[in-house]
Amino acid sequence: MSTLLDAQAEAGGHLAVSAGPAGPAVTDEPPEPPRLSWPQVLRRFWPLTAGRRLAMAGALLCFTLAVVADAIGIELLSTLIDGAVENADLDQFWHPAAIWAVVTLAAAALTYAGSVLTASASERFSRRLRAHTHDHLLTVAPEELDRRALGDVLSRVVDDTEDVEHLTVSGAVSTAGSALAVVIFGIAAWRQSWMLALVVLAAAPCVWLLNRWLTGRTHAVSMRTRVAHGALTSTLEQSFTNAALVQAYNGRPAERRRLAAVSGRLMRARLRQTRLAAVQGPLTELVETAGLLAVIGIGVINIATGDLTVGGLLAFTAYLTFLYPPITALGQLGLVASSSGTSAARLVELLDLEPAVREARSLVVHDREITAGPAGIAIEGVTVRSPGRPDRLHDVSLRIPAGALAMVTGPSGAGKSTLVELLVRFRDPDAGRIRLGGRDLRDRPLGELRNEVTLLPQEPFMFDETVRDNITYGVPEDPGTGPISLATRDSGAAEFLDRLPDGLATQVGQRGRALSGGQRQRIALARALLREGSVLVLDEPTTGLDPQAAQNLIGTLRLLTARGRTVVLVTHDLGLTRYADQVIEMRAGRVHRLTVSPDAPAHPLDRPGTQQLKAG
Ligand SMILES: Nc1ncnc2c1ncn2[C@@H]1O[C@H](COP(=O)(O)OP(=O)(O)OP(=O)(O)O)[C@@H](O)[C@H]1O
Ligand SMILES: [Mg+2]
Repeated sequence: MSTLLDAQAEAGGHLAVSAGPAGPAVTDEPPEPPRLSWPQVLRRFWPLTAGRRLAMAGALLCFTLAVVADAIGIELLSTLIDGAVENADLDQFWHPAAIWAVVTLAAAALTYAGSVLTASASERFSRRLRAHTHDHLLTVAPEELDRRALGDVLSRVVDDTEDVEHLTVSGAVSTAGSALAVVIFGIAAWRQSWMLALVVLAAAPCVWLLNRWLTGRTHAVSMRTRVAHGALTSTLEQSFTNAALVQAYNGRPAERRRLAAVSGRLMRARLRQTRLAAVQGPLTELVETAGLLAVIGIGVINIATGDLTVGGLLAFTAYLTFLYPPITALGQLGLVASSSGTSAARLVELLDLEPAVREARSLVVHDREITAGPAGIAIEGVTVRSPGRPDRLHDVSLRIPAGALAMVTGPSGAGKSTLVELLVRFRDPDAGRIRLGGRDLRDRPLGELRNEVTLLPQEPFMFDETVRDNITYGVPEDPGTGPISLATRDSGAAEFLDRLPDGLATQVGQRGRALSGGQRQRIALARALLREGSVLVLDEPTTGLDPQAAQNLIGTLRLLTARGRTVVLVTHDLGLTRYADQVIEMRAGRVHRLTVSPDAPAHPLDRPGTQQLKAG
């Protein structure tokens, strides 16, 4: 499996079927959503069936043999009626009866095997598709994912993948099975009486047309259900993630109204769907009964003329009952294909999101000279655009020497986070370039770059795991107690860890909500400090820290720079800038002022006084 996914990643990470924009539109009459045709879905997702195709073919073979066994059973029924029953002769009963029993048993075993094989192929396909989607979404720019309603993304990854599975694996097998069943029963019926077979086959297009007619109506409704379902999960997600705000600001009535509105949409769509389904059953039954009556009527005439036996007629009615389910299934094909095709388009829209950054096409051979050791940062004419808004960064040029402590300050929205996030390539600049240790970031393998540069994001992200798991996240091997203690001490986490019920083994809860904001901040800081690599980028690490803890942190960072690591620290705390080797003051996406210290303080805690900074 990994080979296939790797191959796809190399090919650009996704196959090329574009589905146009989609999103969680919350209107009652959504615009016609994009939809992929069945061949498009197959073209796109067939590669993911690799390794499962034998199981699919095996399942199809089992189902086909089961149909043959059923057809033989029907022939035996006719033999029994015309022999044993007609002549009231028990001697003519045992032999066909025994064969029928064996054939029925074989059909049951084959059906069982076919179902198991299909399920095995389809479940494995689903698992692979989910993993593939999950993996792909984690290459997309974090802010691209943030822009989407999480509930909608989840419903696509969880539900829409199932529909794609159906079109690609289980539905494909059962459709091929149905088509073969129609052919096999049709041939068997033809052998009994071509005239009756014609009657039976004349009914088939009626059943098929009826189901096709219903398909068009059902598609729109099923789409409405899908969209309403997505809107419902999104609304619930918003409500629950903002529960504290909702309660504190008396937002429950408003939330209730919002939920009632989307719930109402889902209810109406579901009711419409049910009404259509309720019409479909009886209508199909009507057509089937008409076909049955026609067969019996013509059969009676044929029996009178001696062209048909009673057993033959009974066999025909049996063929009819066996034929209609596959014909109905084929008739509903359009319906299934259209609603699942919409799901496929929704999924493809996610899979077509471009990865935020691409691995370098031709990687320079690993150059120890450049990648190891101290790393200076050169930012050269970097611009980051934002459609319809002023540039987030505009022609920014900077040099941060290896082993320096650089601080980035400036008002909110000045572009500080945008700037530092470029260092781990959450995205690439629209113009200009960034070099680390002399090498363009885009020329380095992403994994290597992110080992080299550690970012502490402005928001302290937490997994619902223990404190220890959160601190060691992203460290490939268990670092052991020593480094963890150091990291917790330097981040100021140690002082509250002792007071937690289970210390490092304490669960932090969803998004770390079992901790205070400052505690989360310190754990995130410990996580960043634990990582090795030559560049440490901290986006507002001192937000939740008291002045003493902030000073201690600077002391720690100074130790790191003394060992040759480069530290970039974003801060609003102007009191800290006196410890910096370089202060970069950002305003409106530009470097407003750059102040460089004539000589870096050896250790800020050793020299707590003032270190005069000089404009440069
Ligand atoms: N995901 C985004 N999409 C579009 N524009 C964005 C996005 N995130 C931030 N911006 C814009 O980019 C500009 C710079 O934002 P940035 O987060 O870099 O500011 P900042 O200096 O870190 O502010 P703060 O001190 O509040 O953290 C702002 O005008 C902001 O509105
Ligand atoms: Mg910021």
